[in-house]
Amino acid sequence: MALNLHGRNFLTLKDFSKREIEFLLELSADLKAKKRIRAYNPLMRGRNVALIFEKASTRTRCAFTVAAIDEGAHPEYLSKNDIHLGTKEDVKDTARVLGRMFDGIQFRGFKHSVVEELARYAGAPVWNGLTDDYHPTQILADMLTVRERFGSLKGRKLVFMGDTRNNMGNSLMIGCAKLGLHYTACGDKSLLPNEDLVRECEKIAAESDSGATITATDDPMQAVRGADVIYTDVWYSMGEEAKAAERKALLSPYQVNMKLFKSTGNPETIFMHCLPAYKGNEVTEDVFEHPNSLVFEEAENRMHTIKAVMVATIGDI
Ligand code: CP
Ligand code: NVA
Repeated sequence: MALNLHGRNFLTLKDFSKREIEFLLELSADLKAKKRIRAYNPLMRGRNVALIFEKASTRTRCAFTVAAIDEGAHPEYLSKNDIHLGTKEDVKDTARVLGRMFDGIQFRGFKHSVVEELARYAGAPVWNGLTDDYHPTQILADMLTVRERFGSLKGRKLVFMGDTRNNMGNSLMIGCAKLGLHYTACGDKSLLPNEDLVRECEKIAAESDSGATITATDDPMQAVRGADVIYTDVWYSMGEEAKAAERKALLSPYQVNMKLFKSTGNPETIFMHCLPAYKGNEVTEDVFEHPNSLVFEEAENRMHTIKAVMVATIGDI
């Protein structure tokens, strides 16, 4: 049954119930099937969406653009150099201007507080296309990919290796807690998840009765045992380039190489990465190219899931 998410912001998955997230995944699968047969029934005809980017993007930008056009909407790309946001103009003023012209606003940038402020003042749905703290649209794509491969999410074990405090680590932990996956964060002790967020996710798992568990460890071989999914991300995120050498020293034992990938004891284990990947750092070429690597299915699913978020919040459903 369709749920009404019309007018909602999409800032982190914390704001959505288990059922609402499952609904977005169902809608993504429907829209994906519709696109496969080129069924033409645009659900966002006449809408205009603003795509604000403070940071670079391939997948997120293209996913929002193609998804909007597929559904009959007009996307407008606005890089930080094109508009006054945060330089000559307050975030809240830009939000109120864009909100009067656009039906929805995507923001990718640094501070999570900026996307929150945009959402507070725009008067139109704001979608988080990645901040330093969270990357929620990526998690929808990841969960759709896992579900397509295994047929279910609940009870699956997902291990995130590397900088587990980054936007992907935070968001995967929330997504797993909501949807009932067993989440293991594995990295150097100094880069294990924020304790407050771990407690919050444990509470989310209990409240949504999802059955999820959260584990944090610095032992990679122990972490991956029995994993259905080994997931990794870059060792230093956009804006952290100065930390490259320090992170490489700390995280080299957590590289997803063939020895680690085979240590799950499970021949069905899949490899996932939000991309872009730094091959030779967090993942080796042979794992990246392995038949069980679903990185490009995952990348494609960015488009179907982002489409679902836009259709659900501003579309004709
Ligand atoms: N995964 C992801 O968000 O990729 P982009 O940085 O290319 O958008
Ligand atoms: N953690 C990475 C994710 C890129 C999609 C970054 O923020 O750069």
